Amino acid sequence: MGAPPRPCQLLLLLGVFLLLLYLSSRHLPKLSLAACVRGRHRCPWLGETLPKEEEHFLVFLQPGPASAPAGTPTPPLPLWGEEFDIRQLRRAFSTSLSPRGEILLREYLHGWRQLLKFMEALGTAFGLISRETESKISIMEQHQEGPHSLHYHTVQSMVKFELASGLVGFQSLPAHQPPSGCRTLLRLHRALKWLELFLHKLGTSQKDEKSSRMCAEAYRVALAPYHSWWVQQAVALAFLAMPSRQELYHIIVRGEKPAAGAIVLTTVESLSRVYNVTQEVYSAHGMLELP
Ligand SMILES: *[C@@H]1O[C@H](CO)[C@@H](O)[C@H](O)[C@H]1NC(C)=O
Repeated sequence: MGAPPRPCQLLLLLGVFLLLLYLSSRHLPKLSLAACVRGRHRCPWLGETLPKEEEHFLVFLQPGPASAPAGTPTPPLPLWGEEFDIRQLRRAFSTSLSPRGEILLREYLHGWRQLLKFMEALGTAFGLISRETESKISIMEQHQEGPHSLHYHTVQSMVKFELASGLVGFQSLPAHQPPSGCRTLLRLHRALKWLELFLHKLGTSQKDEKSSRMCAEAYRVALAPYHSWWVQQAVALAFLAMPSRQELYHIIVRGEKPAAGAIVLTTVESLSRVYNVTQEVYSAHGMLELP
């Protein structure tokens, strides 16, 4: 995972960019990025040799609607209603922490569904992170509805059950088994840190600060250590196409300008509490680096 020296980095990056530009000019007219991201279409123009999670990230490099040349119609922003609701997000994460300090999985996943809407509102560039996240949420929901649903009531009961049943692969993913809840939740847990840090920066930011910078810094701290060099380069480019700070505030608090920062920060607090408890549980069982 060590980064190659600088000139090499630049050349590689340029190479990827040109390759993807070439691919996009050949294939994108037929299969738009949006269709690929939002719809359930396959994206055959992606390399098949990349690991699945990296493949998703690489699509960031595709010029999406956000960076389309002037004159190209951009899709309208999603309508409000069933869209991202920061109050529901806060409520879900607040109620996910029981008085005994257990994390209720149903509420936790409910909160994640809101975060997913937030990511979707961030634009096409984030579409593939959201799809990756959505698949993790779905796996957790399947565990919850499966034959051992009783054990998937809280994070703590899940950890206890999976450890006792030998379902957690500490060295490698156990073959012929659905990914364990512990492994899957860990991915969500790391992404939660990223969003927590990002929202915190946003909530405390000044008017002239750049959202892409805030998001990138949060990424560097929370997620980059777990991603390969390739993914990191792809993500770095993706941030450049994200909505401005002002647009983000519009997505988050809609019209309510006064106290917008405070609304964001109380939400961050509820995420942070849940994150910290999860972190303790995982750390206590040596599970912070599950493959
Ligand atoms: C979570 O833990 C961090 C680091 O230990 C701490 O700074 C933060 O205040 C904690 N968050 C909450 C809500 O307790």
